[in-house]
Amino acid sequence: MNRTVIINEFGGSENLNIIDHPINEPNVGEIRIAHKACGLNFIDVYQRTGLYPLKLPQALGMEGSGIIEAIGENVTHLKVGDRVAYASMPPGAYCDKRVMPAAQVCLLPDEISFEQGAAMMLQGMTVEYLLNRTTPIKAGDTILFHAAAGGVGLIACQWAKSENITLIGTAGSDEKCKLALKYGATHCINYNEENFEEKVKEITAGAGVDVVMDSVGQSTFEGSLNCLKPLGMMITFGNASGPIPPFNLGQLGAKGSLKITRPTLFTHIGNHNTCQEMAKNLFAKVTSGQIDIIIGQKFPLSDVALAHDSLEQRMTTGSTILTM
Ligand SMILES: NC(=O)c1ccc[n+]([C@@H]2O[C@H](COP(=O)([O-])OP(=O)(O)OC[C@H]3O[C@@H](n4cnc5c(N)ncnc54)[C@H](OP(=O)(O)O)[C@@H]3O)[C@@H](O)[C@H]2O)c1
Repeated sequence: MNRTVIINEFGGSENLNIIDHPINEPNVGEIRIAHKACGLNFIDVYQRTGLYPLKLPQALGMEGSGIIEAIGENVTHLKVGDRVAYASMPPGAYCDKRVMPAAQVCLLPDEISFEQGAAMMLQGMTVEYLLNRTTPIKAGDTILFHAAAGGVGLIACQWAKSENITLIGTAGSDEKCKLALKYGATHCINYNEENFEEKVKEITAGAGVDVVMDSVGQSTFEGSLNCLKPLGMMITFGNASGPIPPFNLGQLGAKGSLKITRPTLFTHIGNHNTCQEMAKNLFAKVTSGQIDIIIGQKFPLSDVALAHDSLEQRMTTGSTILTM
């Protein structure tokens, strides 16, 4: 049986169905992978609920790791038997085996386990582009990073520390704040207990931060803008609390000539060479010991609905994986 998780309609985690999906030979530019694990990401929740609409029925899952079983024509960077990991379109990683495009599949260094590989590709390459490819950020700069104890968050805390960037994190509990501090956040604000805007002003002696990285969206957006220095950069890259309502660009001028961008990982990794380079940078951070991939939760594939509920209900820390 080739277990594959699909949705037939948008909605809650009860719509996640495990079916037996036929498995084919790869076509040109494709590979067949036998998964060891796959990663759970907040985008999977957006896709399941229909916030990011997909054509139905649809398999879910954007990241995984495993062993190459078969190779289509014109795939030159991989061979049968390779250990690999990926974050890639199209969705469909929650399965035992799949045929998929090869372009974003990367060779996994031997020092990195399959479980780490499945946990780190999507979240880690996101941190790579946020810190390296979105706006100039240098040692000594200060960034505000929301949901700092989450999957993307704990990687960001460690990456920022490794580059001497001051990261002010936020998180939803004191326990989560402790975790973010342990993994390199310089400060962490429990934004369920304290007004993060006031705390950021206090920490920066009124100056504000150079960059905000906000994946929480609706509930933090306005406050995040108020944390920026004049000419600061707002990077809004997610909507865990809901999408940001329509916004008057004039506010950017009034708040001090602020800049704003709304990037996605999939634009960055759309180019094969860029994707492989981003993965290489991430692998280097992990194999050198600068970044530890924290797998806070592991679920068997059969418990995918429980895994979704935990992520959505803010019960997770670090990365979450599903094992085969
Ligand atoms: N644009 C991109 O390229 C890109 C790529 C990867 C990820 N992302 C985004 O980055 C964010 C983090 O992704 P992740 O997979 O690592 O998830 P995660 O951070 O592990 O989980 C999301 C966290 O958001 C916080 N949150 C705040 N308000 C929430 C609410 N109302 N409902 C649920 N969670 C809420 C929670 O932390 P607290 O309890 O600490 O508040 C929760 O644990 C997501 O928004 C995701 O879509 C964007």
